[in-house]
Amino acid sequence: MSRIPKSFIDDLISRADIVEIIDTRVSLKKKAKEFVACCPFHNEKTPSFTVSPDKQFYHCFGCGKHGTALGFLMDYENLSYVEAIESLAQSLGLEVPSEQKDFGEKKQPAKEDLFAILQAANNFFKKQLYSHPQKDLVVTYLKNRGLSGKIAKKFQLGFAPDSWDSLAKALAADAKILLKLGLLRKSDSGRVYDYFRSRVQFPIHDYMGRIIGFGGRIIGDGEPKYLNSPESVLFHKGQELYGLYQARPALKKHDAAIIVEGYMDVAALHQHGVEHTVAALGTAVSKDHLTRLYRIVKNIIFCFDGDQAGKGAAIKAMRNILPLIREGRSASFMFLPQGEDPDSYIRTHGEDKFLNAAADSTSLEDFIFELAAEKSLPDSANGRELFMQYVKPLIQQLAPGIYRESLIQRLAPIVNLPDDRVRSFIFPIKGSKMTVRSKGANLAHRAIAFLLEEPKLAFAFEDFGVLQNSKVPEIKLLLDMLDTILKDNLQPAQLYERYVKDERFANDKNKIINEQNMLTGVDLQKGFLEAMANLKRQIAKNQLAQRVSTANSGAEINELINKKTKVTN
Ligand code: CTP
Ligand code: MN
Repeated sequence: MSRIPKSFIDDLISRADIVEIIDTRVSLKKKAKEFVACCPFHNEKTPSFTVSPDKQFYHCFGCGKHGTALGFLMDYENLSYVEAIESLAQSLGLEVPSEQKDFGEKKQPAKEDLFAILQAANNFFKKQLYSHPQKDLVVTYLKNRGLSGKIAKKFQLGFAPDSWDSLAKALAADAKILLKLGLLRKSDSGRVYDYFRSRVQFPIHDYMGRIIGFGGRIIGDGEPKYLNSPESVLFHKGQELYGLYQARPALKKHDAAIIVEGYMDVAALHQHGVEHTVAALGTAVSKDHLTRLYRIVKNIIFCFDGDQAGKGAAIKAMRNILPLIREGRSASFMFLPQGEDPDSYIRTHGEDKFLNAAADSTSLEDFIFELAAEKSLPDSANGRELFMQYVKPLIQQLAPGIYRESLIQRLAPIVNLPDDRVRSFIFPIKGSKMTVRSKGANLAHRAIAFLLEEPKLAFAFEDFGVLQNSKVPEIKLLLDMLDTILKDNLQPAQLYERYVKDERFANDKNKIINEQNMLTGVDLQKGFLEAMANLKRQIAKNQLAQRVSTANSGAEINELINKKTKVTN
């Protein structure tokens, strides 16, 4: 996978001005040291959205959205992380470097050049569809499959002729690059040939409409049915959705996305008026796919074949979507009758029936309960136990909040238990060791909040002592951040951007940002050093408590208790 160097992201953040970036999209008003506006991410009449020029953060006190210039572009323009970096770089006149070694020691070709090559390849494929001597073969095939000329244009379909070298000849590009992009292949004997031959070509676009790869379907029967572009600097199968570009306006209009399995399904649904449809390119629907879609729409409808394979795919998708669900977002599952796929279904039954079936799709909650009931009916003590064992790890994946709570309240009558019992079964109250740990975690979060406010504080702290060996993840994160600042001397937004994708940070981001928002007016250096000292004291206490509980003799305990009074004094 292509990786953008950290130093470049640091550089971007330090050059960009978040006030300017936001102000061109949401008009800001100056208020004391900050800028304010009505939040673009939720509905409000009085401004609670603030932008800090000093720290280069935005924060909404209403909905809690928080981030840097990059995060703002992602949320406001529905861009992926990499796209936001590209867009910001472009506005600053910088070129995004890549750490990828795809092209050996030679200088990397610029991404623009790669996009241009794929576009040229598609121009070639499209031309063949209208002018190649064998074009009737394809045109008839597409017609027989019910695809209109209009839809072929919309999806920019093309034809790769039955030839070993016509594409290579048509493109005046370095063969090495064409090989990397998967347009050419090399045989074991070293012969280089066109990869896509005798196929209907489906170009795959990114969200901005640039071609990043191809799927090629064999004309008629044969194996393999589809050939797909390999992973490249431009194409990451696990992240891209087929049809996203074409579906964009309809996604916004419906505030919903239907996810199907194949190229043909997307084309057929669009043709019959169901344009808020995308496909996951034959791979399992990933968390990345879903995160992208939830930036654009609130409702996701999975559409699967009604067979065993379809159900297996639905279960996988369900597991991936759980952590992303929260109040205001929905997910549901639609299963077609046995033997049908979305393409055949819409052609025989039409738009209305398809949309009705989509509206009738099984909600995520119901799907979970149905799966659990297949394992065991909750009609006896033992049955309820097994039912709960099935749903427990799934519900644990849900973020805390209204959605999770209402699911628990729906579950309670099903298993015939009070809400509280269900809740404590799924989220057992943690033992004393855990509360001690969470005290340490809270203090670590507080220290991290100070660092985000003013990274230079890291230089004021010297004596790490007991902190060094801590196994508490939050403390390890804190140490990691201190280390990063001491090495790279980062500004607040740079530090934030370094960790925003780190799970340890991301999971507790809201807690940390809340702490940070309470630091206004606090003496930062004094407060930070106090938090660090408290943290050290907490750890020392825990270690003692643990040794007391494992001590062997009374004398040993007495000795430890003497120490303890020293620590606490
Ligand atoms: N797929 C693939 N390689 C294959 C088979 C399938 O990459 N050999 C992917 C394609 O993205 C395909 C999707 O899986 O679109 C779904 O497969 P399938 O339902 O078999 O294909 P359809 O899109 O329905 O195509 P068709 O109707 O022409 O069979
Ligand atoms: Mn099909």
